[in-house]
Amino acid sequence: MSGLAIARRGDLVSIAASSAAGPGTRARYGRRAGSDGEVGVSRVFEHRSVMVQEVVDLMRPVPSGIVVDATLGAGGHSAALLDAHAHLRVLGIDRDPDALRAARSRLAPFGLRASVVKGRFDSLGDLAVSAGIPPGACSGVLLDLGVSSPQLDTAARGFSYRYDAPLDMRMDPGSGGPTAADLVNSMPEGDLVRLFAANGEGRFARRLARAVVAARPLLTTGDLTNAVRSGLPAAVRRQGGHPSRRVFQALRIAVNEELEQLSRVLPEAISITGPGGRIVVISYHSGEDRIVKAAFGSAVTGGCTCPPGLPCGCGAEPAGRLVFRGARRPSSEEIELNPRAESARLRALEILPAASRSEER
Ligand SMILES: C[S@@+](CC[C@H](N)C(=O)[O-])C[C@H]1O[C@@H](n2cnc3c(N)ncnc32)[C@H](O)[C@@H]1O
Repeated sequence: MSGLAIARRGDLVSIAASSAAGPGTRARYGRRAGSDGEVGVSRVFEHRSVMVQEVVDLMRPVPSGIVVDATLGAGGHSAALLDAHAHLRVLGIDRDPDALRAARSRLAPFGLRASVVKGRFDSLGDLAVSAGIPPGACSGVLLDLGVSSPQLDTAARGFSYRYDAPLDMRMDPGSGGPTAADLVNSMPEGDLVRLFAANGEGRFARRLARAVVAARPLLTTGDLTNAVRSGLPAAVRRQGGHPSRRVFQALRIAVNEELEQLSRVLPEAISITGPGGRIVVISYHSGEDRIVKAAFGSAVTGGCTCPPGLPCGCGAEPAGRLVFRGARRPSSEEIELNPRAESARLRALEILPAASRSEER
């Protein structure tokens, strides 16, 4: 398969490479003309999928059937899976309407082997049932967490300290949920301290929260960046890296309830996946990776409470086995090509057949 599909839907121009997806695959898509403050400009944006070959290799042995790509984005991983594995179909889920448009265009060449639905992945079980996949019948689940590059790079989405725009950061702008501006203008200072400490800038959380409260109301990304600058000691402002990076990350995680939704989706992923199926998760933040590690750990022990080394007497049944120990990281070559891959950590769990569950522990 090769070529370039160009589609115009409403005011969005989608340009999707339909070439065979391989390692380093890049999905390209446009954004709403004029929606980013650069009136009349419609640029093409790209998301370079992370650890594609690892994902393709890990899904090779799964049973024939449907893999749920629960963070479809621009469809790069899904396209790679469909290209590489004739025995697989994909149900793609994303909550971002722009990502869905791009993915539909990207996956169109695969016809009925790919279907795409809008939704939040913490409703994974219900979304799968609505798509005709009963519990335990899925061949695999992929979660490639965090944001896609076009979300960060589209100024109007308000995710980035690099552009001045309304402080939004919602992955689904139509969700009606609070924006980043709502949070920074309404949260008590103590809650902001905890938010920055847990998800972002631990060391200066108190100073940053005080600076944010003093600068209210904050309406734009520029307002927030200025507040962060005023809250940090001059010596820290001069150090490498953008001083706002971690504060923006902390807010984005809170606005989109990323950690809560991750905690909810993992048990759902385990329950919709059948024996021999695999759950592959790529995380980009230590808070995410801790949740994945703990959920996979408890699937492996089945929640067994017996002392280590002794036979299990509590009746716990492991749901899965780790495909490999620990987390895999992208190669240095991949990081060089795509610096956004640097923080990626990949973990994989394989669901056990019910009969072998007691032997595995
Ligand atoms: C890193 S990108 C995925 C990129 C994709 N794997 C690719 O190759 O193009 C993460 C995507 O997950 C989506 N997402 C994040 N949290 C979500 C959630 N709770 N429910 C549904 N989609 C979510 C984001 O909107 C974003 O498009």
